[in-house]
Amino acid sequence: MLSLLLVSFLSSWVTALPATAPCSDSLPKPVLGGATITSFTAAVVHNYAVNITGESNNWTSHNITGLSFCQVNISLTHVGTGDLVNNQVWLPITGWNGIFLGIGGGGYAAGNWQSLAPAVSRGYAAVSTDAGHTQSNSSDATSWALGNAGVNRNLLLDFASKSVHDMTKIGKAITTSFYGSAPKYSYWNGCSTGGRQGSMEAQMYPGDYDGIVAGAPAINWNDFTPAQQWPFTVMNNEGFAPEQCEFTAVTAAAIKACDHLDGLTDGIISAPGLCDFDPETLVGKNYTCNTDGTTRRFSPKIGVVVKKIWQGPVNSKGAPLWYGITPGTNFSSLAPTETFANGTTVPLPFNISDSWFRNYIFKNPEHNTSTITYTEFPALITQSHAQYDTLMGTSNAHLASFKAAGGKMITWQGLADNLIMPNGTMNYFDRVKKLDPNVMDYYRVFFAPGVGHCGGGSGPIPNDVLMNLRAWVENGTAPDVLPASSAYAINGTVRHQNLCPYPLVSKYDGKGDPAKAASFSCAESF
Ligand SMILES: *[C@@H]1O[C@H](CO)[C@@H](O)[C@H](O)[C@H]1NC(C)=O
Ligand SMILES: *[C@@H]1O[C@H](CO)[C@@H](O)[C@H](O)[C@H]1NC(C)=O
Ligand SMILES: *[C@@H]1O[C@H](CO)[C@@H](O)[C@H](O)[C@H]1NC(C)=O
Ligand SMILES: *[C@@H]1O[C@H](CO)[C@@H](O)[C@H](O)[C@H]1NC(C)=O
Ligand SMILES: *[C@@H]1O[C@H](CO)[C@@H](O)[C@H](O)[C@H]1NC(C)=O
Ligand SMILES: *[C@@H]1O[C@H](CO)[C@@H](O)[C@H](O)[C@H]1NC(C)=O
Ligand SMILES: *[C@@H]1O[C@H](CO)[C@@H](O)[C@H](O)[C@H]1NC(C)=O
Ligand SMILES: *[C@@H]1O[C@H](CO)[C@@H](O)[C@H](O)[C@H]1NC(C)=O
Ligand SMILES: *[C@@H]1O[C@H](CO)[C@@H](O)[C@H](O)[C@H]1NC(C)=O
Ligand SMILES: *[C@@H]1O[C@H](CO)[C@@H](O)[C@H](O)[C@H]1NC(C)=O
Ligand SMILES: *[C@@H]1O[C@H](CO)[C@@H](O)[C@H](O)[C@H]1NC(C)=O
Ligand SMILES: *[C@@H]1O[C@H](CO)[C@@H](O)[C@H](O)[C@H]1NC(C)=O
Repeated sequence: MLSLLLVSFLSSWVTALPATAPCSDSLPKPVLGGATITSFTAAVVHNYAVNITGESNNWTSHNITGLSFCQVNISLTHVGTGDLVNNQVWLPITGWNGIFLGIGGGGYAAGNWQSLAPAVSRGYAAVSTDAGHTQSNSSDATSWALGNAGVNRNLLLDFASKSVHDMTKIGKAITTSFYGSAPKYSYWNGCSTGGRQGSMEAQMYPGDYDGIVAGAPAINWNDFTPAQQWPFTVMNNEGFAPEQCEFTAVTAAAIKACDHLDGLTDGIISAPGLCDFDPETLVGKNYTCNTDGTTRRFSPKIGVVVKKIWQGPVNSKGAPLWYGITPGTNFSSLAPTETFANGTTVPLPFNISDSWFRNYIFKNPEHNTSTITYTEFPALITQSHAQYDTLMGTSNAHLASFKAAGGKMITWQGLADNLIMPNGTMNYFDRVKKLDPNVMDYYRVFFAPGVGHCGGGSGPIPNDVLMNLRAWVENGTAPDVLPASSAYAINGTVRHQNLCPYPLVSKYDGKGDPAKAASFSCAESF
């Protein structure tokens, strides 16, 4: 009798206090409304190693070795859609820091399994998804965009928002059953598409994350994606494409003309808005081609082509439809060209926006986008808005629910972003601020002069945005600045600068060591 009582006492105690579960297929399968789990496997991975190269971002730039974690693979299908979405949750075997982390993708890739490694190596339980399509072709959606009946809107919805919300629910449930306790905090960390996914969570599923890092976010999708195609359209309509070294020479001339406007000559344009350098003034002058050292003459049409690229798309009356890249930003990403042995140079499209035009606007992966005229272009932007804003726009400035849920969001972006126009991110923040003057209580945006898309370039890059976000969420320490450092030493010196919350700028004091953060302070203008 006594032992029976003891057993029943013990068993109720055991159910009341959940214990950790072994890393095996017998971990409880999460339940997701409207979806069927088609496959669920879990196993320990020992000594995982990965080299993540070509990234200047401090979070990803480490080579990782000897990682051990519990890998949980979950595939699911949404009832009636025929999709198959793969998700992975990686759980540190020892040293879990009690935090759940959602990790985003890039381009058309919704995620990337190996990008879970830096998170796990820092003690986070992390999740990522493929949103139901391949992760291995981030610059082209051709393999999944269209189905037998035109655009596959289920897969687009998975990519746009659904897959991240699902993986977050699943990931939290698995984390809770594995460790026997729910995560203390949940965060999102992503840049580019990852930044868009995080912003979409704040807009649509404000309860999912306590904090969101939305770097260089691919928000305002139906504005900036068509705008990425604009340089190709300009070169085709003007009948002129320069060799890349001519573009490089224009960038160098712009930096020479506008570098000093921010009060510090350091090879970086920190005040692109003050730069009124006119590229037409270069026409007929000589430049040195950096690829072969020869002296060349700027082409007659280089001025008009660059002016239009910096301006961004316009309508038939010349009114702006979106922004361009800032002066000082590389042209090579959005205005690629190819020069043949016979000296002819032709424009190439930027693959991500070209894929959007071919598949989602023309519904034909073979469509020839080089024939689009200036007259036709504005209507194609309108069409993109009309057909995809609800699904994919990620432009909703109403963050009241996110604020009410206690969420905090930090966006940072290079001011020399070569893929996503920084002015579009300002546009979004300005719209949020218009609806809520107290936006800085829960959402702050920081621009990094001289930095490219999610990294790269010569300007200081934020050291650790996730830690700044955690201090805000966990300790109430709002980020007044983002400490940043140049990824590579410039002239032997690693530069430190504190990035300021937009619309403030980081202004040089005119006398201090430009490599030291103390020589700059936040100001309303330069
Ligand atoms: C999870 O999927 C990956 C392929 O992406 C595979 O290499 C790994 O063995 C799978 N792990 C489990 C536990 O099924
Ligand atoms: C990563 O790079 C290091 C140093 O070059 C090398 O020793 C190691 O084998 C590499 N690891 C992987 C997984 O490629
Ligand atoms: C990381 O791995 C890459 C590729 O193997 C290698 O080139 C690089 O030297 C490694 N870096 C470190 C810090 O080990
Ligand atoms: C990516 O898509 C392009 C165009 O559809 C195709 O040519 C290429 O083979 C694909 N690459 C991979 C790795 O699937
Ligand atoms: C690096 O040094 C060279 C030569 O002294 C100078 O011209 C250049 O402006 C310096 N670059 C920076 C970013 O300070
Ligand atoms: C773009 O942003 C800059 C600030 O960096 C601002 O000065 C400029 O007016 C903006 N351009 C447009 C077209 O809004
Ligand atoms: C420009 O370069 C050409 C050779 O391409 C040369 O003949 C000419 O003297 C140069 N002009 C100036 C002003 O340097
Ligand atoms: C130059 O070469 C390209 C690629 O082979 C060819 O398409 C083009 O017609 C050639 N142009 C001239 C002027 O010969
Ligand atoms: C862009 O697309 C072209 C044509 O499909 C392909 O040759 C090239 O490799 C692609 N570039 C990238 C970066 O995927
Ligand atoms: C622009 O491209 C050059 C050459 O590839 C590179 O050195 C530089 O870091 C790039 N700048 C940015 C801001 O991405
Ligand atoms: C990377 O971040 C760490 C803090 O997590 C910081 O100590 C380090 O200086 C940063 N490195 C660079 C190059 O930004
Ligand atoms: C919160 O503050 C404590 C005490 O200063 C500090 O030890 C901890 O690292 C802070 N946490 C975060 C996430 O910044």
